[in-house]
Amino acid sequence: MGINNDDIRLLIDTAVQASKDVYSNTKIGEKPVSIASLAVQKIIEHQLPKKARIVMVGAGQTNLLVSKLLLKYNYQNVTVFNRSIDKAQQLADMIHGRAFTLSSLPSYEEGFDCLIVCTGATEAVVTQAIYPMLLQEEQDRKLVIDLSIPNNVDKSILKDHDIAYVEVEGLRSLAQQNLAFRQAEVEKVHEILESYLERFPLHYQQRQIEIALSTIPKEIKAIKEYALNNVFQREIDGLDEETRKLVIRMMDYMEKKMCKYSNESC
Ligand SMILES: NC(=O)c1ccc[n+]([C@@H]2O[C@H](COP(=O)([O-])OP(=O)(O)OC[C@H]3O[C@@H](n4cnc5c(N)ncnc54)[C@H](OP(=O)(O)O)[C@@H]3O)[C@@H](O)[C@H]2O)c1
Repeated sequence: MGINNDDIRLLIDTAVQASKDVYSNTKIGEKPVSIASLAVQKIIEHQLPKKARIVMVGAGQTNLLVSKLLLKYNYQNVTVFNRSIDKAQQLADMIHGRAFTLSSLPSYEEGFDCLIVCTGATEAVVTQAIYPMLLQEEQDRKLVIDLSIPNNVDKSILKDHDIAYVEVEGLRSLAQQNLAFRQAEVEKVHEILESYLERFPLHYQQRQIEIALSTIPKEIKAIKEYALNNVFQREIDGLDEETRKLVIRMMDYMEKKMCKYSNESC
């Protein structure tokens, strides 16, 4: 197809520039639409300090995404509980936290500020019996985020304890709203991308001229060298030292000016 590396580089540069333009001049990236980012958004909204004790139950794909965001936002105190310790350990290593098996959850004595629960279990993992043990008699309001379907937090604990409860269904409807918000920006995005597409042929043509002109300085230099060393060599050799130097200086001056002119026209 006759596409070379320079063409591909130009295409990539233009695509990157267009995406930056879209990102900074539309609201397409403003509101999160994934469950994991909405969950972390809730933690931020609740103004949990970076050293807040976060207990995470489950070490599957969803909690992996949540953990990456916790790391991004610099939450530094995460403890992971999972049925299999290997996966818990992998996740804990990634976020510089600690790992335990799920069976040791009831005997965890360090309390928590935020509990994130997300496993594939079909019944409650955080039960009426386990929750008070996790609380360690702390009285302050806790943030409990249950991302599991079906829920893994027994909802009856909400009656007896002070809990800011976030569940996956609520996040899903927020995700839908945010998606609709992004949808409204799509037309603007198309306009920006179309303007890049329209300008691309001219941009491409300019680049071809640039490439064609880029060989000119080398050619000018070669002509000068050839004139001095071949065409006028005998006459130049016959000149006295001072005149010879003057002629070479004049030739160098001409070369420099012509190269400068050819670069400026690029
Ligand atoms: N992916 C999403 O976009 C999304 C969004 C919202 C909600 N969810 C829900 O989140 C939950 C987990 O999804 P995922 O994508 O993270 O799944 P996943 O990658 O398959 O991970 C499942 C996790 O649950 C644990 N687990 C499975 N069965 C269990 C049981 N009976 N008791 C205790 N732990 C158990 C697994 O432990 P082991 O490592 O020991 O196997 C693993 O940590 C599901 O309820 C899903 O519907 C997912």
